[in-house]
Amino acid sequence: MSEQVKKMDETSHLILHRTTKDEIRQGVTVITRGEGIRVTDQDGKTYIDLDSGVTRPVHLGYGRKELAQAAYDQMCELAYFTPCQFANVPAMKLADQLAEIAPGEINKFTFECDGSEAVESAMKLAKHYHYFRGDKNRYKVISRRGAYHGVNGIGIRALGTVMPMRQMMEPLAPGSVFVESPYCYRCQHNLRYPDCNMACARDIERIIEFEGPELFSMFIGEPIMQGFGAYLPPPEYWPIVREICDKYGILMVIDEVICAFGRTGKMFGTEHLNVKPDMITMAKGITSGYIPLGAVGCTDAVMEPIDVFMHLHTYGNHPVSCAVAIKSLEILKEEKLVENSAAMGEYFLEGLKSFTKHPSVGEIRGVGLWTAIDFTTDKNTHAPFPLKNLVSMVNRAKDKGVITKCMGMALEFAPPLNIGKDDIDEVIRVLEEAITEEEREMGL
Ligand SMILES: Cc1ncc(COP(=O)(O)O)c(C=O)c1O
Repeated sequence: MSEQVKKMDETSHLILHRTTKDEIRQGVTVITRGEGIRVTDQDGKTYIDLDSGVTRPVHLGYGRKELAQAAYDQMCELAYFTPCQFANVPAMKLADQLAEIAPGEINKFTFECDGSEAVESAMKLAKHYHYFRGDKNRYKVISRRGAYHGVNGIGIRALGTVMPMRQMMEPLAPGSVFVESPYCYRCQHNLRYPDCNMACARDIERIIEFEGPELFSMFIGEPIMQGFGAYLPPPEYWPIVREICDKYGILMVIDEVICAFGRTGKMFGTEHLNVKPDMITMAKGITSGYIPLGAVGCTDAVMEPIDVFMHLHTYGNHPVSCAVAIKSLEILKEEKLVENSAAMGEYFLEGLKSFTKHPSVGEIRGVGLWTAIDFTTDKNTHAPFPLKNLVSMVNRAKDKGVITKCMGMALEFAPPLNIGKDDIDEVIRVLEEAITEEEREMGL
């Protein structure tokens, strides 16, 4: 089968995402198969997939025939019906199941195609909430520099420093307000935790006062930030945000697109934060990436004033995607993969900690099966690390059979949740080699 796969080069008719012409000229790997935590390319080479499809959705690993069967069965039963004025059984069932497990008081759900649309819908619902309460001027949204919330309107506004995409798309929708992120390793306020008195969180209030508190609709943030490489904020951070949101009547939205469904060793990332959100957004792990699906959940208090959700999306509440999500959640539970994420996450982090001896390794951190190594050229000042050397480490690991990626100045790892100790041992060996070789070449 692999010999029949066409090469992906400049002559290909396919447009790739975020891949430069130069990268295409150097050769693009075509992935043809997946089984367990491994994928195979067009030449038959097999890799450990250390980032669950690189964008991290594949919580259950590859080759799950039960998910294909769930999609097949639902397609035969009812392939599609509108989300407007009609309901379908899988969407209702999935909403019931999410209500059982969602954090805090999140109790109502609507389904979209992906995380970006979930974020858009959260923004719309926030506007509906204020509108139906007679508060029609609230259009501003606060997000954080370095955050990522997808490719659509609010998402692009919130891209922050993750990529230059935001600047390319300007002018953007009005109302985007950015605050600094809780990234203590390279504090954007140049302070040190805990002496900083959580300046990054407290500053939000000053910015709200400056911008006009009556104009704000919602605050959005990831429980653990991806932009700097799996960054969990100090425990005081989210409770302070909650307090400020409550003071000014702003809805607090936690973007669970990466964290939800076991990534961090708990069912939801919010469970690490000691706060109750007004809304959450989900995607990725909800179907383990087997079929597109995003979701928004909100509390009864948010839904209570909303007479009608003025939204109609052809593929909203899609029965086939919801059926796959139900099966995916069932497997997650049956195979105790949230628990495995917690246990293997700890084991992985222990392995990574053996890298502290390396001159370029700054901070090693992680929660469950979402871990990262933040690199620096100076361990005392936490000076920036060149992107080209990070990319080179990623390429070295790939040559040795491990697919991973960089985020900010970190290498970031989010393997399928069914990874085992032997695979982790192999990954640690490969990463050790890749870092050692790169440091040697850098003369460190
Ligand atoms: C936190 C967060 N929100 C939203 C999105 C957008 O999700 P999608 O790519 O499914 O549209 C992403 C994607 O990586 C994300 O990480």
